Amino acid sequence: MIAVAKEAAYEAGKILRQKLGKLRQIETKNNQETNLVTEADTESETKVIGIIRARFPEHQILSEEDGTFRSDSEYKWIIDPLDGTTNFTHAFPIFSISIGVEFRGEVIAGVVYDPMRDEMFYAEKGKGAYLNDSPIHVSDVQSIDKAMLVTGFPYNIRENPDFCTERFVAFLQHAQAVRRLGSAAIDCAYIAAGRLDGYWEVSLQPWDKAAGQLLITEVGGIVTNFEGGEHDLYAPPILGSNGFIHESMVRVLELAKQITIQNNDRKTQ
Ligand code: IPD
Ligand code: CA
Ligand code: CA
Repeated sequence: MIAVAKEAAYEAGKILRQKLGKLRQIETKNNQETNLVTEADTESETKVIGIIRARFPEHQILSEEDGTFRSDSEYKWIIDPLDGTTNFTHAFPIFSISIGVEFRGEVIAGVVYDPMRDEMFYAEKGKGAYLNDSPIHVSDVQSIDKAMLVTGFPYNIRENPDFCTERFVAFLQHAQAVRRLGSAAIDCAYIAAGRLDGYWEVSLQPWDKAAGQLLITEVGGIVTNFEGGEHDLYAPPILGSNGFIHESMVRVLELAKQITIQNNDRKTQ
């Protein structure tokens, strides 16, 4: 399955490279003016699903744009055919294809492919994680003030769900630096590869993080919810890190929440 996932991501990557800067159609979706979908998303999805279904026709599929297939199979492929669509529409070259394989509710294989750098990140449960066939590992940064963090924002950011903005500001004040790359799957892959030390995001879909969270946990990193408890792929938040700074990140998330609640209470009194 990992070979099929890699092949599908690689072939879809060729399409994305060809389409970059040449889009004919950009539309909005889910009634959100900043949530975009393009022919690159759909053509990449068609390619990925075609390759998977040719090999595993019975397996279930959960894919972002239009690719849900349900069956009795215990395998489910969870696909984001273009993670980083907004970047893509600006020809900003950070985006990826993310493919995870779930078996009995657990992700057992994952691939994140960055076609612009030809970087194939992949992991199988219990076998570590790799970048273009070399083993990768998380960073050894021990404290949050030395850490470079990354985050992303949901398309309904203007409603500021789950104290999004306040949490961002709190991390700016505690970390060495905070980045926003625009592809959740690449954010996770970079944590796994030690290029970044911690990642939080308030609201993701399973296809954004299925492969990425496996990459992180396969190399000694930690992935949880915002309270430090068990991560649920089908729940919105994710907190991933190299492990060393995880507790500090949980504390910053909590601090930002408490301060915001207190301030709001004061305003309404
Ligand atoms: C988005 C990206 C982005 C994250 C958003 C996602 P899309 O996925 O992963 O980094 O901040 O929450 O929705 O829409 O480009 O596939
Ligand atoms: Ca996505
Ligand atoms: Ca997408």
